[in-house]
Amino acid sequence: MTAPKKLFVKTYGCQMNVYDSERMAGALAERGYETTEDQAEADMILLNTCHIREKAAEKVYSELGRLKPLKTAKPDLKIGVAGCVAQAEGEEIMRRQPMVDLVVGPQAYHRLPQLEDQVQTGARALDTDFPEEDKFDHLPPARGPKARRAPSAFLTVQEGCDKFCAFCVVPYTRGAEVSRPAERLLAEARDLVERGVVEVTLLGQNVNAYHGAGPDGDWTLARLIREMARIDGLERIRFTTSHPRDMDDDLIAAHGEVDKLMPYLHLPVQAGSDKVLKAMNRQHTAEDYFRLIDRIRDARPDIALSGDFIVGFPGETEADFQDTLHLVREVTYAQAYSFKYSARPGTPAAERTEVPEDEKSDRLARLQALLKEQQEAFQTSMIGKTLPVLLEKPGREDGQLVGKSPYLQAVHLQADAALMGQIVDARVVETRTNSLAAVRA
Ligand code: 5AD
Ligand code: SF4
Repeated sequence: MTAPKKLFVKTYGCQMNVYDSERMAGALAERGYETTEDQAEADMILLNTCHIREKAAEKVYSELGRLKPLKTAKPDLKIGVAGCVAQAEGEEIMRRQPMVDLVVGPQAYHRLPQLEDQVQTGARALDTDFPEEDKFDHLPPARGPKARRAPSAFLTVQEGCDKFCAFCVVPYTRGAEVSRPAERLLAEARDLVERGVVEVTLLGQNVNAYHGAGPDGDWTLARLIREMARIDGLERIRFTTSHPRDMDDDLIAAHGEVDKLMPYLHLPVQAGSDKVLKAMNRQHTAEDYFRLIDRIRDARPDIALSGDFIVGFPGETEADFQDTLHLVREVTYAQAYSFKYSARPGTPAAERTEVPEDEKSDRLARLQALLKEQQEAFQTSMIGKTLPVLLEKPGREDGQLVGKSPYLQAVHLQADAALMGQIVDARVVETRTNSLAAVRA
């Protein structure tokens, strides 16, 4: 038997990409590849790229530059670029970087085995089509360290987005919104549970727009969650990322009614000024968002809220930015992500006059100071509380395990490694910005 070939995948960006990397490893396992953590021993290196962050394409080119010595030393090494940069700039990558053997967009991962065959003949392969077929139906289950052992798994339920926020590339790189059939998702969730998974995070760029075909018509995300909650052995359900416009009554109610649905919600608002929200094409006002948050908190008072913010969107004045600070003070976040606006070619906002860089930086610093204060207050409010913690992996110290609270906080505690994958009660004794220290209760 020939020795298995080694695949090294470097993943950038969102959880969708983490999940996709595992699916790609699964697809290439068909061609005899095993994953490796060591780039130097790889027969194939795949960069799974993200287009959301600034200078994404340049980062890919400099990473490719760093790989050059490896490729020179080992000419049989195959180098591939996947993900959203591949989708957006595949042909350009092929032109600028002759050492790239393979470019594959997120809609074509199920064709990786065929593309690999092509590459093995010495040809170069580019596939950034948007096929009609459901790519999920063709992909074997995810492989890789996460998929094998972790008690927590991702499950992609929809992809793409029809919202067209003026700053965002997702509708162009990931395409139109597509939801996967409900029964298939339930079957996959059952399968994950059989492999030891106790927590599932339902993924999608616009996950609460989910409307997959069910046995009795289209299902909403709330319906899918309610049915998934009936699976024995599945203890925790999460979902991300949501758009305020798609938080329907039933999904809000589910937060109060479904015990397995965790009290954490990532609900990006991006900005607090109605003028800016309109210019962003967000299709909601600040007041809509406040009302929504009230209803969610009525359903689940202890819910931990998270969000995304963009400062310095074209046209944003200091007064508009003050509206964002006001919104943050009113809502109170447990945790949040914030970014300086940066133009993405091809998006409507890229045509507009930019806010000066130093103003953007100043606003970001002020917003982040406020968000950090809120995050620390949320963390501190946990002291003395007993929380159910899902134990996920070994910690840095001897005898220590790291787990997750219902509010998506990392929790460190001393516990027997045999308890991995179980949910134990732990009392919080100390807090840091990004984690909690606890003892078995
Ligand atoms: N500039 C800055 N931030 C952006 N995001 C998306 N596009 C841009 C951009 N052009 C942020 C949004 C989104 C998160 C994933 O990334 O806040 O919710
Ligand atoms: Fe991008 Fe999210 Fe807006 Fe869709 S809803 S366009 S993914 S920011």
